[in-house]
Amino acid sequence: MNNSPIKYVLRLLGLVAVMLFISFAVLKIILPQIAEPKVFKIVSTPDVMERGEYLFNSVLGCPVCHSERDWSAIGAPPMPPIGAGRSCRESDQSPLGLAEGGGFPGTICFRNITSDDATGVGEWTDGELMRAIREGIDRDDNAMFPIMPYFIYAALSDADTKAVIAYLRTLPPVDHPLPETDINFPVGLAISLIPMPVRDVVNHPDQADGIKYGEYLAKVARCQFCHTRRNSRNRLPDMAYEFSGGVKFQGREGYFYSTNLTPHETGLGDVSLEEFIQLFRRKPGQATGEIDIMPWANFSGMTDADLGAIYGYLQSLPPKPTGGIEEL
Ligand code: HEC
Ligand code: HEC
Repeated sequence: MNNSPIKYVLRLLGLVAVMLFISFAVLKIILPQIAEPKVFKIVSTPDVMERGEYLFNSVLGCPVCHSERDWSAIGAPPMPPIGAGRSCRESDQSPLGLAEGGGFPGTICFRNITSDDATGVGEWTDGELMRAIREGIDRDDNAMFPIMPYFIYAALSDADTKAVIAYLRTLPPVDHPLPETDINFPVGLAISLIPMPVRDVVNHPDQADGIKYGEYLAKVARCQFCHTRRNSRNRLPDMAYEFSGGVKFQGREGYFYSTNLTPHETGLGDVSLEEFIQLFRRKPGQATGEIDIMPWANFSGMTDADLGAIYGYLQSLPPKPTGGIEEL
């Protein structure tokens, strides 16, 4: 039987396979979106360095990922040598600290970003570092795994990014080689879709406008990312749920849900500015036996003024019940 339905189906499947192969091949050629690293040299002054140190440690939390952590203390503070990287995530491990999701799609390392030439970023240009931080492309033009929150740091102003890089350069070199990142197919291909060039100037927000500046900080400090439920399609925060919490995280000892930061009664509705600031003053080392996802140890270094700006911004948002939108 020449025209049996089975043969027909097989032929159709073959065609689909060929088409899939061609589209993957096309994607592979045109992706990822890469811009040349910008060419500039950062002029580091004491003010720039102070800003960079503050952003790196207390606001952006780079050491939270790029250092080993003390899991026995509240907020699991990063341990020296700061920035030297930490043990890699492998496919048989649960994605610690990530929102709900299966095992790990390969080997991903929290890289050594000290100024070591061979195993750190000592030889990278300022432009290459800026591209890595905000655009997610490494020195060899590879798309970086989006645990590195470059898609959030894309909002970081040019001035702040340069300050971070100026400070990064002062991390003493640590010889700590780590394995290459190795992401399994097809996740690797999907990842290469994520990086986006930042072509325009990213202006610094007017720090005198408390609410605007608070919005900026709540974005780059990743408050929005962790406290907003994700869209199931692209895993990015779904603005309908913005800041209303309820995101599930896997911790070392079970699951944690991020809290509601909107001025709803189930969120920060009854929390005063002073109480809000005090939440951030719990010092690393005040062990409670409970290990959090939220990087308190880093945020505890934020100034009252900056926490106040975040608070003011959060209080200006529409109140929403935890993890959701108001029932209509
Ligand atoms: C939530 C965790 C996380 C945070 C926070 C984070 N990183 Fe990363 N970073 C990573 C991971 C994971 C990689 C490796 C990605 C890969 O290999 O695909 C990485 C890679 C990098 C690289 C590329 C290094 C290399 O050798 O390829 C640089 C540079 C970098 N990060 C700088 C920073 C800076 C600066 C900050 C703070 C502004 C920061 N990171 C914050 C997780 C993080
Ligand atoms: C990596 C994810 C993550 C980031 C980043 C993050 N949070 Fe959280 N946050 C959580 C989780 C999860 C909880 C629930 C308690 C816990 O596990 O720490 C929480 C709890 C809180 C609480 C409640 C604390 C209490 O004791 O009632 C406040 C307030 C808060 N976060 C504010 C913020 C602000 C402001 C920022 C940005 C500066 C921020 N969070 C960034 C995940 C995060």
